[in-house]
Amino acid sequence: MSKVAVITGSTRGIGAASAEALGREGFTVVVTGRSQSKVDTSVKKLRDNGIDAFGTTLDVTSQHSISAAANFIAHSVGHVDVLVNNAGILPEATAQGASIVDPMVASDTFATNVVGPLNVIEAFLPWLRESQAGRIVNVTTRMGSLAEQADPTSPYYSMVVPAYQASKAALNSVTISLSKSLANTGIVVTSVCPGFVQTDLTPVNRDQATTTAEQAALVVLAAATLPARSASGTSSTSMGPSAGSSPASPPLRNSQLRWRRGQRRDDPRNDPLCRRRHLGHPRVSSDPPSTRHMVETTKPMNAR
Ligand SMILES: NC(=O)c1ccc[n+]([C@@H]2O[C@H](COP(=O)([O-])OP(=O)(O)OC[C@H]3O[C@@H](n4cnc5c(N)ncnc54)[C@H](OP(=O)(O)O)[C@@H]3O)[C@@H](O)[C@H]2O)c1
Repeated sequence: MSKVAVITGSTRGIGAASAEALGREGFTVVVTGRSQSKVDTSVKKLRDNGIDAFGTTLDVTSQHSISAAANFIAHSVGHVDVLVNNAGILPEATAQGASIVDPMVASDTFATNVVGPLNVIEAFLPWLRESQAGRIVNVTTRMGSLAEQADPTSPYYSMVVPAYQASKAALNSVTISLSKSLANTGIVVTSVCPGFVQTDLTPVNRDQATTTAEQAALVVLAAATLPARSASGTSSTSMGPSAGSSPASPPLRNSQLRWRRGQRRDDPRNDPLCRRRHLGHPRVSSDPPSTRHMVETTKPMNAR
């Protein structure tokens, strides 16, 4: 019986690449998205590539949709081993007019990036608890690091997309609190930062990001396949577990990462939206980011 991985927002971008990476690893992949036709197209593409996949609609902002998807998946395969909370939005990249952030933009951002994952986790937890290797992967960003945002020497210091950054900080917090709530289970919870990735997250990502979705998916794959007794509540990037991760935490499989010739993995300019001036956001200065190396701040709370 193959393991089952559910990935939110997996009809495009990092989610779609993660579905393919997990499928190639032998998982039965459950593609989810807001559009049934996009789900069908994605499932067909995966199956054409020899991957065991099926799909269902799942809007993370709708409790009804989450419940229906969880019921459908449970009846289809009867178990879930990996949940990837990938669906996310950054509407501030294009929003105009508000002095800080438009209330609707802030509300939508939190509904998708924080409340959605929490509700999806709640719906799938009964199956994850029954798995021998339950894994929850929350796709976040270093832009959500409170320490980076408060450190004047950090290249993230002058970035101002408050709703998105606050939402990802909250999701990092969810990772840590979940690791404590699930300490007596075999479930490992991880936050991953995929880098600055060529997707449709903002108008600039596709053209200016340095990381492909396929490369980003390897970070998700590594967290989804962490061995038993790995540290829970940690944060990982393409460089592996972040500084401060427990020695008990096994390294991610960095050997799987393939970078462009000459590209430095530890160069913050290769991280998401470091070159925020390209967002075109009115509060974003055009100062080039510092090239100091990054220090991730989410620390493991529950070494296994
Ligand atoms: N790209 C980067 O540089 C970067 C860096 C750090 C972190 N991330 C994170 O990576 C994740 C994936 O982003 P991406 O770069 O792949 O962006 P993307 O190409 O814009 O994909 C976002 C995905 O989320 C889905 N989605 C949005 N709202 C949803 C909802 N209410 N319910 C279900 N699915 C929803 C979208 O589905 P639809 O097709 O229905 O819109 C789409 O599949 C996000 O959490 C993002 O914050 C990205």
